[in-house]
Amino acid sequence: MANIKVLPDSRELVRKAAGIFSSLAKQAVSAQGRFSVALSGGSTPQPLYVLLAGNAAFDNLPWSKIDFYWGDERMVHPEDLQSNYGTAKKLLLDPREIQDNQAFRIKGDYPPEKAASSYQQVLEAQFSNRPPRFDLILLGMGPDGHTASLFPQTDPVLNPMPGVWVREVYVAKMSSWRVSFTPQLINAAANILLLVSGEEKAPVIQSVLKGTQPPEKYPVQLINPLNGTLTWLLDSGAASLLQ
Ligand code: 6PG
Repeated sequence: MANIKVLPDSRELVRKAAGIFSSLAKQAVSAQGRFSVALSGGSTPQPLYVLLAGNAAFDNLPWSKIDFYWGDERMVHPEDLQSNYGTAKKLLLDPREIQDNQAFRIKGDYPPEKAASSYQQVLEAQFSNRPPRFDLILLGMGPDGHTASLFPQTDPVLNPMPGVWVREVYVAKMSSWRVSFTPQLINAAANILLLVSGEEKAPVIQSVLKGTQPPEKYPVQLINPLNGTLTWLLDSGAASLLQ
């Protein structure tokens, strides 16, 4: 069952997300010595990365015991402004002095299929469970109901491949390739945190949280953790059409 929290504005949404990140990180490190988190791209999480990087309240997080992954990536060089890895590295990883061996980027500078298959191999090497079970996966949602790079009517949504956890995705409307976690991998996580901000997303939030749309139309509806938690953090704009 999803847990839905509505915050007054995006600033409070980010503060809440930072608090959840912090407590999950401390819990995981004290229980198993490491915290594995897959970050999302887009604009919504950027102020979260800035807050985690710069606010003294998070100085005592066990930063050296956190392993960073990415739930999706654009096919660009890591230093490209479009790179999800590059953005998080600039805003969070570098300020918190995260070492290279703690950051596992999707190789956006590789051909899409190679980037996807090599990332699956990284996950197989890093995680003992099958599918890999992240302590936390951060997700966003586009106004079309996509999440990660699971866009409507794309191959990973229409033609799931059991056992394949990372797929290359051709997004026709953007005439571009992406690499994305699959729903199977996302749903294996211990905790999923879905951050949605802005009034333009309210119609899809209303449809999706009623669960009345086909998942191929709104892929975010495929996110249902098998044995973990799903928390939607919405600001008042994104939640404005919910009763
Ligand atoms: C990406 C993201 C994507 C993002 C949504 C929402 O690479 O773009 O992973 O899934 O979360 O598009 O983006 P905004 O936060 O910018 O609205």
